[in-house]
Amino acid sequence: MTRIVHLSDLHVSGAHFLSGVAESVIQSVNEIAPDIVVVTGDLTQNGSYPEFASAKEWIDRIDCESKVIVPGNHDSRNVGYLLFEDFFGARSSSLSYSDVTVVGVDSSQPDIDDGHIGREKYGWIAENFETSDLKVFALHHHLIPVPMTGREEQIPVDSGDVLELLDRCDVDLVLCGHRHVPYVWRLNDMFVVNAGTACSNKIKARTAQCYNLIEIDDGTLRIYRVLPSGEQELVVDFIAEKEG
Ligand SMILES: [Fe+2]
Ligand SMILES: [Fe+2]
Repeated sequence: MTRIVHLSDLHVSGAHFLSGVAESVIQSVNEIAPDIVVVTGDLTQNGSYPEFASAKEWIDRIDCESKVIVPGNHDSRNVGYLLFEDFFGARSSSLSYSDVTVVGVDSSQPDIDDGHIGREKYGWIAENFETSDLKVFALHHHLIPVPMTGREEQIPVDSGDVLELLDRCDVDLVLCGHRHVPYVWRLNDMFVVNAGTACSNKIKARTAQCYNLIEIDDGTLRIYRVLPSGEQELVVDFIAEKEG
């Protein structure tokens, strides 16, 4: 079995970060002992050096060798996208672990909240998905509107083209954040999974801080919504139809 923990929207800052909740998140994630950790952006609130340094310390405390981390719109504020590279490496990256390939892309633009992937990345994305692995695409912005988030805004301006690309590449799972509301859509053969905020006070209405756990095991895919305490709720239990 391969386990992926999907965290998003930490918003490390004086105003929004809840360190006690983050402590619980780290403890419960380390108890899960995931094979892969994906962090889909908004690690910081303002993209500042102290925020990135603190975000790095928190993320380093998660015991996992295989992490894919992409920036969010908040990380690219104030030229923070350069600091992101200093602390976490390339803004777009891919990783293969066992029979899973994760491709993470930077969907942010400096000082603009709208998402944008960009045609220049489409070839690189397709190349990385030339594999028989289970395919996971990770980005900060939501590719599909998320219910209970109010007026729709900031969806990637090229989300239609990106969804078509991912569908053509037979992507199994899309992981995103930004809206701070957890939700799962199934679109054709893809699950599009939004994460809530893991440990910030920037929650909407009746939602709470949470993260996602995805378990992949020989044709089955399970998605759990996990509270910081570690309490899990199964939200998707999927068995792939075997071909032939
Ligand atoms: Fe956010
Ligand atoms: Fe965001």
